[in-house]
Amino acid sequence: MTAHKAVGVDIGGTGVKAALVDVETGELLSERHKVATPKGGEPEDIVAAVTRLLSAIGEPDAEVGITFPAIVRQGKTMSAANVSDRWIGLDAESLFEKSLGRDITFVNDADAAGVAEQQYGAAKDQQGLVIVTTLGTGIGTAFIYRGVLQPNTELGHLHWKGTDSAETLLSARARERRDLGWREWGGELAEYYRHLELLFSPELFVISGGVSKRPDRFVPFIDIATPIAIAKLKNNAGIIGAAHLAHLANAR
Ligand code: BGC
Repeated sequence: MTAHKAVGVDIGGTGVKAALVDVETGELLSERHKVATPKGGEPEDIVAAVTRLLSAIGEPDAEVGITFPAIVRQGKTMSAANVSDRWIGLDAESLFEKSLGRDITFVNDADAAGVAEQQYGAAKDQQGLVIVTTLGTGIGTAFIYRGVLQPNTELGHLHWKGTDSAETLLSARARERRDLGWREWGGELAEYYRHLELLFSPELFVISGGVSKRPDRFVPFIDIATPIAIAKLKNNAGIIGAAHLAHLANAR
């Protein structure tokens, strides 16, 4: 019996990461295993990468939560921004379950990160609306209202300055592609967060994703009225949220 631990797998546009998680405390109980997201992001290749990570972790009886960077509705992936279009409409949860030979809990990556920050991190004990944003290959968002997740908000795809997705200009990857300095990026992000602020009046924004390891480089330039907290779980939020949700699903 693996009462207080579960495996979290976080599939992103750039890397696939996994670890065993203590679901009481949100701490990692194993090292964090990571492989690059296979080029093209095809379903078979991603499933194969997840299979390899799970066998590296062991723990065949532990519950497993898996995140994916797309809209997830009833186990199906309904979009594909930084992975192959073949995921659109795919019954991804069943595909993983068949291939891995075990039950899984399947969830959007930003939603998992949001839940993790709400349970164990920067959004803990917040009563109003918290918007958790993940700045990485794309931009992911999670709305947590009074501790409850409102899934699939997808604000990285707001139309923005002539593009149909803000993330194509503003994600951490876009910063590198556009060769923007940290200050310049922070200034552009400020405009985006100000727009979210106007639309949703959150109590708090949480900034998550790999760049949250060095917030001093850009967060001071995000000059907005709403408080900003830096993700406590850094780049592990997706893994931890996935494990937490898997544990919850099985505790029901
Ligand atoms: C996807 C979201 C995801 C975000 C971060 C976006 O392109 O549409 O579902 O949460 O990237 O990975």
